[in-house]
Amino acid sequence: MADSMSKEFIQRLEDRLELLGKPLLFFGETDSSNQRLKELALSGATHGTCVWADYQTKGRGRLGRQWQAAAGKSLLFSLLLKQDIDPRNMFVFTALAGLAICQVLKAYGIDAQIKWPNDIFVNGLKLCGMLSEIVKDGLIIGIGVNVNQDEAEMSDLSGVSLKMLDGKNWSREDLLVNVLNQFSSGYLKWQQSPYAWHSDYIGSSWLIGKTVVVQDGVNRQDGEVETIGMDGHLLLRGKDGDRLKVSYGDVSLLAIDGKYK
Ligand code: BTN
Repeated sequence: MADSMSKEFIQRLEDRLELLGKPLLFFGETDSSNQRLKELALSGATHGTCVWADYQTKGRGRLGRQWQAAAGKSLLFSLLLKQDIDPRNMFVFTALAGLAICQVLKAYGIDAQIKWPNDIFVNGLKLCGMLSEIVKDGLIIGIGVNVNQDEAEMSDLSGVSLKMLDGKNWSREDLLVNVLNQFSSGYLKWQQSPYAWHSDYIGSSWLIGKTVVVQDGVNRQDGEVETIGMDGHLLLRGKDGDRLKVSYGDVSLLAIDGKYK
């Protein structure tokens, strides 16, 4: 993928987008697609604008972490939704994005599931991370998918790429268009019926029924995942049968040898 992606090529991709994702702005290199879109939002970028980057010098992850991805291998993009959003209700958009990715991958024969709060996992390995951030008059959803990394190129041992799953080179632009269109369809449905997404979300959630430990940097909470609320809380049943409500943190699963991984 060249640094100077041709206008015609981008135009052809835009033509395939049904609703969100336009204008589609491609950057061969940028600091972070979320950051770039944040700046564009400040200077008047419109609802649905998408920043797509081939390489990020300062890719951002959750909880202040970095997100590193070699050039030309991942799908890295951020989508701007301009609307009134109470930060407490942000979860639904990450949920819709996660669902869109799972639905698209299912159509390709890949059984991807959402790992609360912001990850997509396949076979217990991380394929994709999402980072939603509030911006002026709206919200940005940033998505990073491991696409064409070989095993040796996957720096994160607990990570997996689409190529590692099926041995093929994937078209990142097709994936981008499909995810944006699927997200658009979920977004329209959410506008018409704001709670309908939840049952699909639960159906695509990897953690339901699993025994987990959640660490938020200060506290650690253990229990079996009962469900995930519409407000984005993880609801656990503790050892003593007590119910615990977790709002954020890193989740590890209890492995067969009794250790958390
Ligand atoms: C995480 O797993 O911690 C979330 C990672 C989110 C990474 C994506 S890549 C595109 C977008 N731009 C960023 O700087 N971050 C998100």
